[in-house]
Amino acid sequence: MTDIKELLLSRIRDVADYPEPGVMFKDITPLLADPAAFTALTDALAEIAANTGATKVVGLEARGFILGAPVAVRAGLGFIPVRKAGKLPGATLSQAYDLEYGSAEIEVHAEDLAAGDRVLVIDDVLATGGTAEASIQLIRRAGADVAGLAVLMELGFLSGRARLEPSLAGAPLEALLVI
Ligand code: PRP
Ligand code: MG
Repeated sequence: MTDIKELLLSRIRDVADYPEPGVMFKDITPLLADPAAFTALTDALAEIAANTGATKVVGLEARGFILGAPVAVRAGLGFIPVRKAGKLPGATLSQAYDLEYGSAEIEVHAEDLAAGDRVLVIDDVLATGGTAEASIQLIRRAGADVAGLAVLMELGFLSGRARLEPSLAGAPLEALLVI
């Protein structure tokens, strides 16, 4: 494992049985509190933004905001928030998706994305892939292209990568850590 991967992994805290019994929660707050680790993460994701030719960064509420906003600044790109439903005041596109129990909905301001944009989606965790899949659908419905999806960590045992293959349609999925 490279030095940066070791650094990032060392700053992610495992919390057993949160938010419910049997789940091992990956807490990134120690990483965010460490300026060296947070800077290394931001630089690594900004490099992905450059390599994919992204022209905009989309962050997925909430933890994708914390990671995505500094990446957009570092890469010199605009930041577009994809929010949970009901939080954006302007005209929105919305996309519903299924959760293990029930469903959820995310939204983006329609005017923030258009044909010709190449969008890098950033989030902290890829689990089942449902959130990322819905964001990709939103971006395409807005007429923009998906430059890729970049996450701090991929939970490999949940097979989100396989789920996303059709919607990514060849765009890269970059995970700095695969757990
Ligand atoms: C978590 C995580 C990812 C998503 C991954 O967000 O931050 O966004 O779940 O799960 P999936 O791949 O199965 O869709 P969540 O909405 O739980 O919390 P947050 O608002 O703190 O980001
Ligand atoms: Mg999230």
